[in-house]
Amino acid sequence: MNRIVPPLLLALALGLGGHAAVAAPPAALTGGYADAARAADPAFSAFSATRGEALHRTRFAGGKPDTPACTSCHGDDARQAGKTKTGKLIEPMAASVSPTRYADPAKVEKWFKRNCTEVLGRECTPLEKGDWLAYMAQQ
Ligand code: HEC
Repeated sequence: MNRIVPPLLLALALGLGGHAAVAAPPAALTGGYADAARAADPAFSAFSATRGEALHRTRFAGGKPDTPACTSCHGDDARQAGKTKTGKLIEPMAASVSPTRYADPAKVEKWFKRNCTEVLGRECTPLEKGDWLAYMAQQ
């Protein structure tokens, strides 16, 4: 395994203390993505829930054919439960109805990595992650 801690993960880890259940992604989490997005593009100004929704709904061709979009498992309505391809229920992704979500940066990173790879055929960028979280924070 890679022993070098990327700056993003370090920023996320530093922000961990004291966060329990929250109604929106912790500032430490989105702040880490914002720093990384700015590092990648100095013109970065803010995350966009509109771009996040587009990412959530777009059907991509680069990933697994049976899961072309985030909505393939999380459903069309983020306030409703989703379902895996094997039929396992997934609690809603909207922060308003699932207030315990996004409190654990390691969990968020783990699932972004796994799900983006599955849907897009690559990892999501910090900009995409921040945009997607901004969308879910508004749902
Ligand atoms: C193959 C089914 C599937 C697809 C497609 C999928 N997800 Fe998920 N996702 C899951 C499951 C299962 C979990 C973990 C169970 C849970 O948290 O309720 C999860 C959890 C997550 C989490 C962690 C939430 C938390 O509570 O911290 C994030 C973030 C996430 N998904 C983002 C995405 C994004 C972004 C996409 C599209 C690029 C996507 N997912 C597509 C099945 C999927």
